[in-house]
Order: sequence, then structure tokens, then C-alpha cells
Amino acid sequence: MEGPESTESGSVAVTTTTKGLSAEAERRRTFAVISHPDAGKSTLTEALALHAKKISEAGAVHGKAGRKSTVSDWMEMEKARGISVSSTALQFNYHSSETPDEQINVINLVDTPGHSDFSEDTYRVLTAVDAAVMLIDAAKGLEPQTLKLFQVCRHRGIPVITVINKWDRPGQTPLELLDEISERIGLTPTPLYWPVGIAGDFRGLLRRGEDGEAREYVRFTRTAGGAKIAPEEVMDADAALAKEGSEWETAAEESELLSATGQDHDQEMFLAGQTSPVIFASAMLNFGVRQILDTLVELAPPPRGREDLSGKPREVTDPFSAVVFKVQAGMDTAHRDRLAFMRIVSGVFERGMVVTHAQTGKPFTTKYAQTVFGRERSTVESAFPGDVVGLVNATALAPGHTLYTEKKVEFPPIPSFAPEHFSILRAESAGKYKQFRRAVDQLDSEGVVQILRNDIRGDASPVMAAVGPMQFEVVAARMKAEFNVEAKMEPLGYALARRTDAASEVELNRQRGVEVFTRSDGVLLALVSDKWRLQYIQKELPDLTLEPLVAAAD
Ligand code: G4P
Repeated sequence: MEGPESTESGSVAVTTTTKGLSAEAERRRTFAVISHPDAGKSTLTEALALHAKKISEAGAVHGKAGRKSTVSDWMEMEKARGISVSSTALQFNYHSSETPDEQINVINLVDTPGHSDFSEDTYRVLTAVDAAVMLIDAAKGLEPQTLKLFQVCRHRGIPVITVINKWDRPGQTPLELLDEISERIGLTPTPLYWPVGIAGDFRGLLRRGEDGEAREYVRFTRTAGGAKIAPEEVMDADAALAKEGSEWETAAEESELLSATGQDHDQEMFLAGQTSPVIFASAMLNFGVRQILDTLVELAPPPRGREDLSGKPREVTDPFSAVVFKVQAGMDTAHRDRLAFMRIVSGVFERGMVVTHAQTGKPFTTKYAQTVFGRERSTVESAFPGDVVGLVNATALAPGHTLYTEKKVEFPPIPSFAPEHFSILRAESAGKYKQFRRAVDQLDSEGVVQILRNDIRGDASPVMAAVGPMQFEVVAARMKAEFNVEAKMEPLGYALARRTDAASEVELNRQRGVEVFTRSDGVLLALVSDKWRLQYIQKELPDLTLEPLVAAAD
């Protein structure tokens, strides 16, 4: 296996002209794959990297137990569960055969954690991307985690490309799958590549033209174990009919039917989050993978400027700025380091440059800058808008923080998502109270969990609030490893949180099944035992403030 190399941009002279900068931004595509566990995200990641010639054989970046593994097993917990808790980014160059010979695109695939428990990190990653690929298992259709992640994309206005995977295995009909997408999530699917052959008999893809006509047929040939790029034969409709007979006729008819119901691609509606281009694929066989990359290059938006707190745009050609979207500790147990991942918003990043940390106003040197994918780390010499860079041992940085040079800027904070799991946290031994306090403050500032307090419970036993229970395990593991404190946790019988205010606090605390806390950012949260209790209070006491927080499931 060839390991990921340092970024292309690291070896060339850094472009700093406005024109050069906008060209660098323009050729980048930064996206994440959103899917339910087992839909094939790791397999697709391998296949994408294979197409970009990053790895010579598929099977090298997989992280599951028992496989050739390079994905994170930094934390013991990850090892024990055979899952990846950490998110990282894979960067590769890609040339689409649809674009001029000299055009090389830079693809940034930002990895979302692949386990079934949610954490806030899963959501935060989506603040760092410009597009998402929604990966669906052809047999299972839309699954809960895909739905939750999709809601975050919708909330943030991230355009979504849909990939229906595992078409090499028996599954639902393609039209059924499209119906499910439009009915359950209200997104109009607009297939670009339609399958020839039913699920389980995947022969190739009909490429749809603007009004549904068959532009061409791409016929695939299997390779042993899907380990190499599947050879493609491209032919016109007549040749396709001669080759595939009724299978082709069915596909062509269905494609026309889609046009009759208005399911053709429209770039504006795609960017507005109303439609989603669809590609059928088999990540395992490498069928449809080139088409996914070509679609990203052709349709996904390149990095754009971002509005700051005051609503003023920071353009990609402005001086350097970046947003931290994730902090990961303990990725390398030998060094016990801490990486802050930032997404570059504007300007050029050059390793070693001194930037300002907007939240403290303090200068910050960026001597150790890396890209991380799996166990592979490489030094980043320079990076451009859309790129993700990990800063080593950047202790002051937390998700949502801004870094900049020259022109001061501060981007809006990342919204914290509605917690659904609550647990009381205590130090096992009272003698360790000081370390315990330090650990709580540190993990809180990193956004590992949300920390809630109220006068009744006091400071020795704060309440942790999380989107997924795995966040609690991370707290326990890190408290032990980094602060030498055994943490005791006790589930708290609440199931949801609502934002409230001081005027409602006293009355809410009088209610059964409700308790008000202050989160460390000062927001008052009412925890409620269940949704029926919430409905009851809202009906009986309509004047009390109980606002939903940003929730993936809302
Ligand atoms: P995840 O990261 O989304 O959790 O999924 P992953 O890629 O690990 O894939 C889950 C399972 O689905 C794997 O099988 C994988 O081989 C299989 N898979 C992924 N894509 C395809 C596809 O296009 N077609 C078919 N038929 N299977 C696919 P497994 O049995 O869990 O592991 P393995 O023994 O095959 O490695």
C-alpha cells in the first residue's frame, strides 16, 4: 500500500495572488459521507481513494476489527468496540475525464465517525463541509442515522448527493427507493445514473441527459474481489440495447418516466437543498465510484466565503481565516497529544505562520500542522480554503473557535445540538476533587460533553449532557488517562432538553419531572423526563419558555 502522501500543495510554490487563491478554492470539493452504520461508508472511502490512486488496492483504509486496518484505533475504547470514534480528513487529487486535461481537482473527504451512537462530533463535522454524499443501502432504504444526519444537512443548507449502494445485492426496486426518499425526507431525487439490471444483477449505468434521454451506457466488468478499478465500456443506446436487451429497455423506460414526473437535475434546486442527484453504485465492486467523483467535481459547490458574527462576508480571497470544528485528544497514545482540526475559510495557510486566536486575541504559532487519515499523518506545509488541517497540541482551541491573520474576524459559534442523554458525574474519591474539577473544565471547553450545573446539585456532581451515550465513555476514558481520576457516572432520568429563561425557571422547577440547569455558556436548560410531560406542561402553562434546541431529529 502506498500511504497518503503530503498534500500536493505542500510541494509547490504557494499561491498568494487573489487570482491564484480563487483558482485554488474553485478546484476544491470538501464533502462528508452521511450514512447509517454498515451502509458501506468505509468501503466507499476506499473505493474513492482507489479511484484517485491514493491507494493501490482497496482494503487498505478499512478500520473494522479483523481487517487490514489503518483507520483509528487510537483509543482503547475504539479498539474494544472495533469502531472509529475519531473523525479525520482524506485529501486527494482527482482528474475527471469530463473536465479539460489540465484540470486537477482537490477532493477533501471529511470522515464522520462510523458508529451507531451519535456524538456532537458527528454533527460538528458537517459544519466543515460544502456538500454531503448520502449513502443508502439498496436493501434497507433510509435508516435512522441517515435521517438524523440528513436533517443536519438540511438545517445547514448543505446540498446532498444520494448514492444508492450495494446494487450488486438483491434489494428494493429503484423507483421504490426514490419514493421513499421523496416521501420521508421531502427531497426530490433526480437520478443522474440509473441502474441497468435489477438489484442483484448490476450490469451498468444509464447516464441520463437533461430531459431523461439516455446519453450513454456505462457497462462495468467485475474485478476479483472488487479490489481494482472496475473496467468500463461506454456505448450508445443502440449498442446498449443490443448488449442488454430488455434490461436496457426497462432502464430507458424508467428514465423517461422520471422525466415525466419532473425528476431531472436542476442545479439551482440542488444547491437550494430541494433536490438530490442520485447515483446507483456498488462500493464493493467499484461500480459507479468514478461517477460519484465526477458528480462531485461537476455539481458540488466549491468553498465559498463565510459570514462573520456581524454578518460581513470573509471571502475566500481575504487573508487567512479558519474555523476549528473538532478537537481530538489521545489520538496517539505514545505522545498523548491533542489535535484541533480546522477548516480553512479564506486565504493561504502556511505551516509556521503566526495566527491570532479570535477568542483570546492571543497569537498562536502553527509549527506542527498535519493531515490525519487513519494512522497516517503527514505534515502540511500549506493549505487553501476548503482544506482541513490538524494543529498539534493546540490546547486553547475548542470547536467553533476562529483563527485569522491580518484582518480580524470571528465566525459564529457552532450550534450545540440538543442533548438526549444525561448523567451525573462524580469523582470516585473525594481526595481527587481538584483534578476532577480541572478535567471537567477541560473536557467541557473542548466540547466533549455539555456540562450543566445548578445550585441544588452543587459543583461536585455536575450533570453531563450528550447527544450520544458514547460521549460519556470518552469522558471516563480521558479522565482516567489524562487526569488520573476515576469517574463515577449515574444516569439521570431525563430524556430531553429545552431552552428556557430566568422568568420561567422557578415555575419549571416546581413541576414534576423537570429540572432547570445552567450550561457553561450561560444558557438555561430545562431537562424534562419525557415528551408527554413536556406536552402537558406546554398545555397547562403556555407562558413558560420551552424552546427546542437545534436537534438533528427535529
Ligand atoms: P460502514 O463503514 O458504513 O459501516 O460500512 P462498511 O464499508 O464497513 O460495509 C459494511 C458491510 O457492507 C461490509 O460487509 C462490506 O463489505 C459490505 N459492503 C459495502 N459496500 C458494499 C457493496 O457495494 N456491495 C455489497 N454486496 N456489500 C457491500 P461485512 O460483511 O461487514 O464485512 P466484509 O467481511 O465484507 O469486509
